Amino acid sequence: MDVIPAEPKSRLLAGPREERLLTAFFVLYKTARIIEENNATFKRQTAGFARCLEECSDEGGKVHIKIISSRYFINDRMVRFDDRGLSGAAAVVSEWDSLGVGGVRFASDIEHAEIEQFFTFMAQVKPNSENLESLSEHLKAYHMSSVQLLSRTGAEDKEAMVSEEIRREFRRGARSTFFKAMSVVKEVMVNTKQERDINISKTKRVVHSLIDHITRDEASLIELTAIKDFDDYTYAHCTNVCVYALTLGVRLGLDRARLSQLGMTALFHDIGKVKLPTDLIRKPQAYDENDWIQMQTHPHLGAKTILRNLTFDTHAARAARGALEHHVNKDFTGYPMLRRPRSKKSLNLFSKIISIVDTFDALTSGRIYIRKPIPPEDVLKKMHYQMNVKFDGFLLKIFNDIVGIYPAGSVVLLSTDEIALVLTNSEHDKARPYVKIVGNKQGILEQPEWADLSAEDNAHRVIVRRIDPTRYGLDVKHFIMCD
Ligand SMILES: [Fe+2]
Ligand SMILES: [Fe+2]
Repeated sequence: MDVIPAEPKSRLLAGPREERLLTAFFVLYKTARIIEENNATFKRQTAGFARCLEECSDEGGKVHIKIISSRYFINDRMVRFDDRGLSGAAAVVSEWDSLGVGGVRFASDIEHAEIEQFFTFMAQVKPNSENLESLSEHLKAYHMSSVQLLSRTGAEDKEAMVSEEIRREFRRGARSTFFKAMSVVKEVMVNTKQERDINISKTKRVVHSLIDHITRDEASLIELTAIKDFDDYTYAHCTNVCVYALTLGVRLGLDRARLSQLGMTALFHDIGKVKLPTDLIRKPQAYDENDWIQMQTHPHLGAKTILRNLTFDTHAARAARGALEHHVNKDFTGYPMLRRPRSKKSLNLFSKIISIVDTFDALTSGRIYIRKPIPPEDVLKKMHYQMNVKFDGFLLKIFNDIVGIYPAGSVVLLSTDEIALVLTNSEHDKARPYVKIVGNKQGILEQPEWADLSAEDNAHRVIVRRIDPTRYGLDVKHFIMCD
């Protein structure tokens, strides 16, 4: 397998201390709304928050908490924080939005009484009748000198400065997780082949890391699915299928427990292939009838392997079902032949998701079943035609949104005769993504240039068309990895 690049420790991402502080902050915010100031729980949480402030203090004895574009920063380091949990963070974010508040600054030696006073005060704020200025006046009037509200404008300026660095940081983190996932898939497959135990907690951990990345920035992982020239594509294929499936799951609004099961199902969907002869898997020519008969046993072998080698729980049950059903079509054709249960009109959701993303990756890679890669847009068209028989129309539409037009990882030609790698799709204008310019008329650039095509100063750069990198001998993997 290809070498896994080491990742430097992040300067821009915060650690567990900051995560604890942010959790304590939102918990206190919520508690202040529901209980009295002198309540024992409130006092305990206040003391915990004060300890977190001390731990996170900057050199000037201050702690800045900022929210910029739904991302959380403490002292300008971004915090990985799941705001969909019980902390009520999302409600605070929308309240700050309407008040024009972009953050809050605490003196790290703030008295407990002042912390209680601040949160009690914020709990009573009515967003429609107040704004940043009036709130700041109140804080002054109440002599709260160790806490100050910050404006959104200041925070936005900061965003312009850090956004590119943050994007790179995201991509580095995503890369590290992606290669970790690939090595976990390899370990699982090798161990299964040799009838050894599978480390299921390691697998779950890597799925959770993938979920964290996708919920924050799906593009940096989708981009990596464009690398098709791995030595052993099977491991990359399972990882790609997992990334696509989780991205679809996140867009569907599945909760974390279901996402975790979906991720595992995706990673294990082809595990039955380890029970087939390696010569068949790696056969360079097209399959003959005999090969196909053998290949079509992998769903069944996969389900059996999962049920035999994993402790039986919801994850294992779902993964076994996904392995068994991922080549069964919407109309129950495909393989293996399953009898359509009378009570059920369609396959289960996970099998339908895996079927779509598995087909897409197999056809675009040209490394599984067919020996020639097909461009993503042609694959999507083909899949669309087969929608009535094979795929769930609603799920296919969402998937099309994820990888449509210029998916992250596409190589495109610009009107300026430059060649660029698509990095992030803009929600507002999918035709003008964020790109990395890797070549021009003179040839491949030594230092790539980053460009936001939706920005005014890049108005002269328009995407002319997608380029098939293999046709021009371009090394997508190199373009993706060079920063
Ligand atoms: Fe398969
Ligand atoms: Fe597959």
